[in-house]
Amino acid sequence: MAKIIAGIGCSHVPAVGAASDHGKTEDGYWTPLFAALPAARKWIKDLAPDVLILVYNDHASAFSLELIPTFAIGVAQWFENADEGYGRRQIPNVEGHPELAWHITESCILDGFDLTIANKMDVDHGCSVPLTVFFGEPAAWPVKVIPICVNVIQYPPPTARRCYDLGKAIRKAVEEYDGELKVAIAGTGGMSHQLQGERSGVINTEFDVNYLDNLRDNNDVNRDRSHLEYIREAGSEGIELVMWQIMRGAMNEKVVEKFRKYHVASSNTAFGVICFENAPEEKSAAEIKAMKEPVLVEYANALGITAHVNDLKKDTLEKVLSKLGYS
Ligand code: DHB
Ligand code: FE
Repeated sequence: MAKIIAGIGCSHVPAVGAASDHGKTEDGYWTPLFAALPAARKWIKDLAPDVLILVYNDHASAFSLELIPTFAIGVAQWFENADEGYGRRQIPNVEGHPELAWHITESCILDGFDLTIANKMDVDHGCSVPLTVFFGEPAAWPVKVIPICVNVIQYPPPTARRCYDLGKAIRKAVEEYDGELKVAIAGTGGMSHQLQGERSGVINTEFDVNYLDNLRDNNDVNRDRSHLEYIREAGSEGIELVMWQIMRGAMNEKVVEKFRKYHVASSNTAFGVICFENAPEEKSAAEIKAMKEPVLVEYANALGITAHVNDLKKDTLEKVLSKLGYS
């Protein structure tokens, strides 16, 4: 059985890719963002997923206004980086996982999500920038990628609720896959930004931070918001945040936050990255008290508590019990 082991929310601002490609990551403007990334990169490296399901929107690169699939899944062996008007980025092409992609396609369609099948699809900054954020500048990406493209360009996009439900269908498909694979899933885009019109430049930090907090603990709020609320609060391109709901739907009800960075501004956009793992199984207070120390430390770490075998066992135990509301 394949398993979803990690969930990521990540902005996909094209200038972040350009900063990396042109050696500008330490030039002052970009330092606050890039200086935070090693912890996220270590987290994903340690988890070593085999496949990353990467949810993004095409920005008129593979598709145009002539053809707008609401949800499209890439089932190809390879995806080339798109030329978005200034040449293709000189970064590795993206290797797919056709077998898992076809399995997800079949399972989701039979479950009522009529995905468009893309046998050929160039991927743009929506896909490549999150890869840069998490993997830097390798000779080849260390993970296979299943790109899932969502229409958030032409009204009406899918609702946040529909995206969340698709995430659940994807998770079911992954868990029914006959093969041992560690799978991570990323929802990209956002956070608040508007690139055109009267409100061009909109940033709403309060909304963004609430979105991140709710994504972890109280996601019904994000899932049940209307398009109008997303656009009013987060700007016209803030609607991209509905794509993070596909990731959230694929994770457990309870998740542990492993990394977060929120930075204003990157280009015209509030840049957000958040990393989740599924929360460990719930245990009773008695079961926790009976744990041997190394197991307790591992359990504490899985709950997001920094604990080490050299700490006093009593302290770790107290932290775990209090985190779970037992004391
Ligand atoms: C920009 C483009 C995007 O697609 C996005 O999500 C954020 C920012 C930009 O052009 O700056
Ligand atoms: Fe975008």
